[in-house]
Amino acid sequence: MKAIILCAGKGTRLRPLTFTTAKHLIPIANKPVIYYSLEKIKKAGINEVGLIVNPENINSFKEVIEDGSKYGLKIEYILQKEPKGLAHAVWVAKDFIGEEDFLMYLGDNLILDNIEPFIEEFKGDKDIQASILLSPVKDPSRFGIAIIKDGKIVKVVEKPKTPPSNLAIIGLYLFRKSIFEGIENIKPSWRGELEITDAIGYLIEKGRRVKGHVIYGWWKDTGKPEDLLEANRKILDDNHMTLSIEGEVDDSSVIQGRVSLGANSKVVNAIIRGPVVIGENCIIKDSYIGPYTSIGDNVVIESCELQNSIIMDQVKLLNIPYPVDSSLVGKNVEIVENLQKPKAIRFVIGDMGKIEIVR
Ligand code: DAU
Repeated sequence: MKAIILCAGKGTRLRPLTFTTAKHLIPIANKPVIYYSLEKIKKAGINEVGLIVNPENINSFKEVIEDGSKYGLKIEYILQKEPKGLAHAVWVAKDFIGEEDFLMYLGDNLILDNIEPFIEEFKGDKDIQASILLSPVKDPSRFGIAIIKDGKIVKVVEKPKTPPSNLAIIGLYLFRKSIFEGIENIKPSWRGELEITDAIGYLIEKGRRVKGHVIYGWWKDTGKPEDLLEANRKILDDNHMTLSIEGEVDDSSVIQGRVSLGANSKVVNAIIRGPVVIGENCIIKDSYIGPYTSIGDNVVIESCELQNSIIMDQVKLLNIPYPVDSSLVGKNVEIVENLQKPKAIRFVIGDMGKIEIVR
């Protein structure tokens, strides 16, 4: 069995971060979002992975993921020139997939459950032509939705206005090569995309067996900033991270709970209350770093209070007079005290940045 991970979307709801980074490369607990799907795929015993990428993001993926060998995987890059839909993305991977059964993983989705039972069930019954991972949700109109009768999926609909069930399709699918027949027989939807739900619907209409596999654990479609912060909290809670201090902590600092401090990082006169992960070569001085914070490499934080946030590499936060909470700060950002006159707030922010101030 092979796997494909779909990463060719535009990530518009995560701008400005996605102007320079694909959303799948944004760090959660200091690892790119896509790392968590690669980890699950590897654990499920799949070694060959096709990454579906677009012309704008292919190089950033290659820089971070390389050929996959550091994850114990063999990764091939497959170009989808335009995001013409999930079924179109599968179609461009046709040569890579060949005759094999395959797992399709939406690269922006994070799940905590093991996927082995889902895969084993599919492998064990050759009659099943497609299997979809499902989970009950409160807001079904945001998702593809499945209706199940007697253990079989009888209908799938993409983002229905009046949802016929609350079982959402959560971004993992298993297919045999029959899905290509489905894709060949569908037309673009109202949103102009070749929908994988329509290709699955075709299989159902033709009487092929399509299975739903329901999970009840936590999962997230990381499309918006608040989703990334929630995922960061969940992963920091769940990943069994223990206290691990490779850097230096001086005597006037306090480390509480599960904190990971990378090599060559220094904590000086600061309180760090876990779960917190701090990368390499950072300086944290005269500051409080509260729970659910992930800080990348080469970050300098002085005289600040910070919690529940994701701070990426090379950031400088100096003398911020208010506590910082629920924030996502991209690479190389500086938020520093203005020591010149006039004593005013000064901004140099890229397109679509967002700053919330207090009075
Ligand atoms: O999150 C689960 C939902 O994902 C399902 O419930 C829906 O049935 C399914 O259609 C999908 O809906 P979204 O609207 O959330 O899909 P999105 O456009 O965000 O794309 C999901 C991933 O696939 C994302 O990582 C980008 C990638 N993608 C998307 C398109 C449209 C591609 O690689 N190529 C594409 O052409």
